[in-house]
Amino acid sequence: MARAKSVYVCSECGASALQWFGACPACGAAGTLSETIAERVSAHRYAPPVPAAAPVPLAEIETRELGRVPSGIDELDRVLGGGLVAGQVALLAGDPGIGKSTLLLQCVSALESSSLYVSGEESAEQIALRARRLALPAGRVRLLAEIQLERIVAALEAERPRVAVIDSIQTLYSEQMQSAPGSVAQVRECAAQLTRLAKRGGCALLLIGHVTKEGAIAGPRVLEHIVDTVLHFEGDPHSAFRLVRAVKNRFGAVNELGVFAMTEKGLRAVSNPSALFLSQHEREVAGSCVLATLEGTRPLLVEIQALVDVAQAPTPRRLSVGLEPNRLAMLLAVLHRHAGIATVDQDVFVNAVGGVRIAEPAADLAVSLAVVSSLTGRPIPGKVAVFGEVGLAGEVRPAPRGQERLKEAAKLGFERAIVPKSNRLKPIAGIELVAVERVEQAVQALREL
Ligand code: TYD
Ligand code: MG
Repeated sequence: MARAKSVYVCSECGASALQWFGACPACGAAGTLSETIAERVSAHRYAPPVPAAAPVPLAEIETRELGRVPSGIDELDRVLGGGLVAGQVALLAGDPGIGKSTLLLQCVSALESSSLYVSGEESAEQIALRARRLALPAGRVRLLAEIQLERIVAALEAERPRVAVIDSIQTLYSEQMQSAPGSVAQVRECAAQLTRLAKRGGCALLLIGHVTKEGAIAGPRVLEHIVDTVLHFEGDPHSAFRLVRAVKNRFGAVNELGVFAMTEKGLRAVSNPSALFLSQHEREVAGSCVLATLEGTRPLLVEIQALVDVAQAPTPRRLSVGLEPNRLAMLLAVLHRHAGIATVDQDVFVNAVGGVRIAEPAADLAVSLAVVSSLTGRPIPGKVAVFGEVGLAGEVRPAPRGQERLKEAAKLGFERAIVPKSNRLKPIAGIELVAVERVEQAVQALREL
């Protein structure tokens, strides 16, 4: 096939050059040129303009119910919003070695419909070995070890699978371009071509993408705009727990969470995830507070741990793992100002157990109480769950879906809950509610427990 001509286009000013320069020759911006395929100018430059496409009233457009293909793994379906949709392109992004290939191999093996697994990273033999070891019912799965886009496209057109997996998008290259596999231009071009194919043929496409050191999906998040769904595969590589989170989904809710455990038999869905993120302490320990958090629509109990210790250096350290570092500094200031709890000469470390990442502000109260508990050396007695956002004025603000958080706590046998008064929660059998308006009230409530 003849190579299409490529040009280098500046992402700043749009100027194009025939060769790559470190800085754009037109505007001088550095490192903005990237390779793209030169568009061929139409032969009919003087042909009469095409008649405009007629817009249709939105109300008159006929829609069909989305036909969902269950992915074969319930936890994955939940994240996808009920299963894959024909023509859907989903990106599964995560650190190397987290289990992306394992998850999608298990997924295609469990599928009722035809599937094609394209591997650019492992040989067919390696994948077959893994499937055998995991005892996967891989009878219907077709496998292709290939990295050239044009051949993959041809195979997809010939096989017409309902579901296809590309492992990984960074290993593919298109003949049309000279840049190396994994470069922004290649990744963008390959993803765009595969997307077009999936939309046309109604095949659900799962792309695996590696995350770069900076945490962006290589290259510079270009893929996130192209695909319908972005799933992040997270988890502490040293623990067995893996979380699949939807961060963008055109066919369902975002921030849904699927919880898995990596075992010697592959990934196993975890049916009661709250139990995972709670430590099993033999007796109560200081500096531990259970947060009733929300992941998507799913309530989850997570243990927040704090360690407050005399500072080892003139500037005390503040470190948070799985929680917002800036919010920690803010909460320490609020505790000092409104509850008289000083940590200026103390190092403060906080951690969300189990490698979860918690971004919601409703974690504030639990973090504050864990810090207080560690500083005073007093464990929080009994089974207490906490949630609520803390404002700069020291007020405890309501958290969304309070009642569901409370229900989850009750389900796991919690006996007390320290909650924002403004949530106006209805009492639940078995849980004593301690409703607080201000952070100092919460600290006081802790002393009285
Ligand atoms: P893999 O799916 O190859 O990761 P990725 O495709 O995201 O790079 O998974 C690799 C890790 O998972 C590897 O370090 C070993 C571990 N693993 C298990 O613990 N049990 C298993 O059954 C499998 C298949 C992998
Ligand atoms: Mg892999």
